[in-house]
Amino acid sequence: MSKKIFSGVQPTGNLHLGNYLGAIKNFVSLQKDKQNNCIYCVVDLHAITVKQDPKILKKNIRETTATFVASGLNPKESIIFNQSMVPSHSEGAWLLGCVARMGWLNRMTQFKEKAGKDKEKASVGLYIYPILMASDILLYDATHVPVGEDQKQHLELTRDIAQKFNLDFDCKNFLTSPEPLIQKDFSRIMSLKDGTKKMSKSDPSDQSRINMTDDKDLIVSKIKKAKTDSAKLPENDKDINNRPELKNLYGIFSSIQNQALDLTIEEFKGKNFSEFKNKLAEALVEKIYPISNETNKLLNDEKFIDQILLDGSEKAEAIAKKKVNDIKNIIGF
Ligand code: TYM
Repeated sequence: MSKKIFSGVQPTGNLHLGNYLGAIKNFVSLQKDKQNNCIYCVVDLHAITVKQDPKILKKNIRETTATFVASGLNPKESIIFNQSMVPSHSEGAWLLGCVARMGWLNRMTQFKEKAGKDKEKASVGLYIYPILMASDILLYDATHVPVGEDQKQHLELTRDIAQKFNLDFDCKNFLTSPEPLIQKDFSRIMSLKDGTKKMSKSDPSDQSRINMTDDKDLIVSKIKKAKTDSAKLPENDKDINNRPELKNLYGIFSSIQNQALDLTIEEFKGKNFSEFKNKLAEALVEKIYPISNETNKLLNDEKFIDQILLDGSEKAEAIAKKKVNDIKNIIGF
């Protein structure tokens, strides 16, 4: 059955290995199935929920687009576009925001994490951002949304909004409840410095993540310095429990190599840590460095990148505008 796929990535600073293994790698495999209609968005309206420098934001929008393409997304096969160039997303967010309930938003753990202790000082945008995300998805009747584990709750909210809209306005199945596509394993890549914390752009330590723009030497040195424990390498999958750093590094290796965790455990049984780390660094350099190299090449041609976004945004707007108009009709405008 053909699937309508939608997903987005914020253009806030360097994309990292978590974004790649948790999301972008999956975007590329979904594009390979010709039955799927794939739409991938650079969600710059989400990025401004925290303060951005205008010049750097522009650079980051191009860099995220270039990373999409360098990772294997093809603008001839998927719609690749920029959220702020499609005004229907903001309009849809307002309309759906009148359906969503405060109580639902108050449960969002990502807001609590990002706002920190001083919630009063967080932007209103940060609070209502899951509604914009729901608008992104629902305007395209997306059936499947590939994301990392951290977006699961936002997807549940999207489904709640769709169901309430359909019920409130007596229009069964008008808004499609999307299914999250979260990889069974390796959907939450953790910090290289602390295996209990998510790998994130906002971690002040650059050593905590592999950026998609890191060069070979940096990748190797970050893996060498990655935190590990002093026990020997695991003999079986029970040996990996309660060892968050090791579990994370084994997960990264397995995901990069497209192999099950069991095989990784088997491969390194009885070997020492430095041997494993060398192999991990080698695998990362082999997979990530060509993407970073290609991203930099693409960034030399800003016109090419801008044209991808322009073409993609025209296609996206045609779909989204029609859905917003249908929503407005149903509401009674
Ligand atoms: P963002 O920009 O924070 O992250 C983009 C994608 O990367 C995944 N991800 C991770 N996966 C595994 N391990 C990690 N450490 C890790 N860090 C990030 C995220 O789960 C995500 O899939 N709100 C979204 C963007 C968004 C969106 C949408 C996604 C806006 N509208 C509509 C899907 C559909 C976000 O901030 O992702």
